[in-house]
Amino acid sequence: MVGFGTFAQFLAKTMINRGHTLRATSRTDYTQLSKDMGVSFVSDVGALLQEDNDVIMICTSILSFSTVLGSMPLHLLRLPVLFVDVLSVKEHPRDILLKVLPERADILCTHPMFGPESGKYGWKDLNFMYERVRIRGKETCSSFLQIFEMEGCRMLEMSCTNHDSLAAKSQFITHVIGRTLSEMEIESTPIDTKGFETLVQLRKNTEKNSYDLFNGLYKHNKFAKQELKNIELALEKVKQKLQKNDEE
Ligand SMILES: NC(=O)c1ccc[n+]([C@@H]2O[C@H](COP(=O)([O-])OP(=O)(O)OC[C@H]3O[C@@H](n4cnc5c(N)ncnc54)[C@H](OP(=O)(O)O)[C@@H]3O)[C@@H](O)[C@H]2O)c1
Repeated sequence: MVGFGTFAQFLAKTMINRGHTLRATSRTDYTQLSKDMGVSFVSDVGALLQEDNDVIMICTSILSFSTVLGSMPLHLLRLPVLFVDVLSVKEHPRDILLKVLPERADILCTHPMFGPESGKYGWKDLNFMYERVRIRGKETCSSFLQIFEMEGCRMLEMSCTNHDSLAAKSQFITHVIGRTLSEMEIESTPIDTKGFETLVQLRKNTEKNSYDLFNGLYKHNKFAKQELKNIELALEKVKQKLQKNDEE
């Protein structure tokens, strides 16, 4: 695993429980935490690339992905190997991986559509999106996907472009509304309706994610800008309707 932050640790827990051997590297030194989890921490990314890895999972933030890939000493890579990314946007990592990786490195772009909150009681029935971007080693790829299949995920094979278009209309909107509610500092009241309780929960869940993640969802999904405009337009329409009623 390259990038051993919150989400990577969350995935690692299940993978370790299922008997996989994990090595991790990250900007931050996670030696002790990794040791406690049963993961070997390698501070030098070059040393990690030289190990006999079946899969290299990139779990860094969306914003740092390009820099992290650009600074990897890829000439040290043991080939063949399968590169997997788990970023919440998909065209961006696909394009970079295709650009920088040697031909003999396979590429699987994935988005587990869940995290430490929604997946805390297991991954059953949670969505797992993937695209086999460049796969020659079919067995390694299938074995990797099986990790999620065996946990009961709903496996969704689709193009990275289709993912980004759909995610802008669903996940990105959720985060924008959550962040907006956060700016409004909404709090639970003694007379909450069920609907309002849902909004307070949305605010809390959104704030548990890093701001980098939210920023990345906007910056590296070409469909996000239009969705932000759609939200503004919709709010304007709602306002106009109310004000019109006021005048009548
Ligand atoms: N959280 C979720 O529910 C979720 C779900 C699906 C997919 N994902 C994806 O998983 C990835 C990780 O998400 P996350 O929730 O853990 O939080 P995040 O804030 O998106 O990413 C944190 C990770 O990025 C690394 N990082 C950040 N800036 C860096 C830099 N300048 N140079 C090198 N490394 C840098 C961090 O390393 P250090 O820890 O070493 O500082 C950490 O490993 C993201 O791509 C996200 O889109 C997240």
